[in-house]
Amino acid sequence: MEIFSLEGKVAIVTGATGLLGRQHCHALAAAGAKVVVADLNLGECRHLAEELPGEDHLPLALDVAVPHSVRTGRNAVLKKYECLDVLVNNAAVDDKFESPALAAEQSKFENYPLKNWLRSLEVNLTGVFLASQIFGSAMVEQGRGGSIINVASTYGMVGPDQSLYLKPDGEQVFFKSPSYPTTKGAVLNFTRYLAAYWGKAGIRVNALSPGGVENGQEAWFVENYSRRTSLGRMAQPTDYRGALLFLASDASAYMTGANLVVDGGWTAV
Ligand SMILES: NC(=O)c1ccc[n+]([C@@H]2O[C@H](COP(=O)([O-])OP(=O)(O)OC[C@H]3O[C@@H](n4cnc5c(N)ncnc54)[C@H](O)[C@@H]3O)[C@@H](O)[C@H]2O)c1
Repeated sequence: MEIFSLEGKVAIVTGATGLLGRQHCHALAAAGAKVVVADLNLGECRHLAEELPGEDHLPLALDVAVPHSVRTGRNAVLKKYECLDVLVNNAAVDDKFESPALAAEQSKFENYPLKNWLRSLEVNLTGVFLASQIFGSAMVEQGRGGSIINVASTYGMVGPDQSLYLKPDGEQVFFKSPSYPTTKGAVLNFTRYLAAYWGKAGIRVNALSPGGVENGQEAWFVENYSRRTSLGRMAQPTDYRGALLFLASDASAYMTGANLVVDGGWTAV
């Protein structure tokens, strides 16, 4: 099992205190890594860093969309550990509207707000670019290789199935936005770009494409999603731990530029 070990490695997770980010942190820490728990709210990062297995993890306030914040974050990581081996580009935004009525209207492509489109590009795409450039360059300079994992989505590969948001009584409560799938598709090709660019430097760059995670959604939605999925269910938050660890560790040493799809068979149909 040594090929899965991250003993002596330092890993950073962006968007670390979210639903999946905390699972990524747990997986990396359980494999022996020192984990940089990076998200917008420092208090939440501290709390999670204390909860992880192992010692000496680093909570870090970091906004991936702000170059100065990412540079300051890189300096803090290098000051504490003097190295960085794994970067998980996990931070992203998805649309939130103030009320269900607004969601039904504004999520329609015809009405979709430009500000939502721009914010999505800024965090989901530019954020991945910035973190990769700033943390990845440090990996290149230290010359001991590294692994970058870009969290994409099924919706980076296929268009959204809008019937998921159709209630049993025929009411369409929401449309999945145009911006989220666009950014996730771009993340997949950015992954290929960077894998090709940094391959000779020993930096592997892969994408992880999760499917939808069950997280307190209404029963009709869970049923719609499960029916559409080959394995007949939504993901549990813990379902990505193994795939994340595989990509982070030497278990995937000959893999770069790839997209590891973990979606219960959603895109197989
Ligand atoms: N949950 C799902 O069903 C699902 C499915 C497919 C893909 N994904 C992807 O997995 C990743 C994690 O999703 P999640 O469900 O945990 O989302 P989440 O909303 O629970 O967590 C996202 C985290 O990113 C942080 N964040 C937002 N903007 C940021 C910024 N500018 N800088 C730094 N951090 C920022 C938030 O504070 C939050 O903690 C995302 O890339 C998402 O697109 C999620």
